[in-house]
Amino acid sequence: MYVVGNWKSNKTIHEAIEWWNAFVALVSGDPKIAAAAVKRPVNVVLCVPYTILPALREKVTGVTLPIFLGAQDVSPFPEGAYTGEVSARMVKELADYVIIGHSERRRYFQETDSELEFETLQAQEAGLATIYCVEGEKNRIPGSATVVAYEPPSAIGKGQAEDVGKAGAVCAEIRRSTKKPVLYGGSVNPENAASFLGHPAIDGVLLGGSSLDPSAFFTIIRIASTIP
Ligand code: PGA
Repeated sequence: MYVVGNWKSNKTIHEAIEWWNAFVALVSGDPKIAAAAVKRPVNVVLCVPYTILPALREKVTGVTLPIFLGAQDVSPFPEGAYTGEVSARMVKELADYVIIGHSERRRYFQETDSELEFETLQAQEAGLATIYCVEGEKNRIPGSATVVAYEPPSAIGKGQAEDVGKAGAVCAEIRRSTKKPVLYGGSVNPENAASFLGHPAIDGVLLGGSSLDPSAFFTIIRIASTIP
């Protein structure tokens, strides 16, 4: 079971530390959650802007609830003369996961399936786990992807999640063909999270807006840790 937060292009370092302090206060106020999440187990991954990774890297080890850090993109190239790019080896110094092929990367930065395959390869060589995003069953999924996230663009950031039955059917199909864990993402919030997390074909959730608020993020982790 995965609960993955994607902060997108939000928060300064200062704001990230404020978020972190509020989140840790919630975790400490609920001593049972760490044990429940470890027992379940719930893999909590927080994917933040590159600039924030060093500050959170220092903090994650000090909390009872295991939390992994992730980046939101990675260069399709190795290190070298690629101005502006952050290589997989650089990300691996600070994080364990990376999101690849998010709908916004495909739409605003014209990332294509073949470029994303190179990103996945670079990430794998560097030892990063990958959360490979697809918009439907039609997208090609690299064999080396660790986890797949189904995120219908019509539900991302819209406040209206996809119908859980429909999302579950797509996730089931992706799981059948890839044999990988499949997450659902798109307007998941504390009110609807249980229905997605409880669906037998859905192995977790990818949260955008709900991860920006420490209390919503914490509530969804708590829901994930109590689902049988
Ligand atoms: P949302 O974003 O939860 O804000 O809809 C999900 C995502 O884009 O990962």
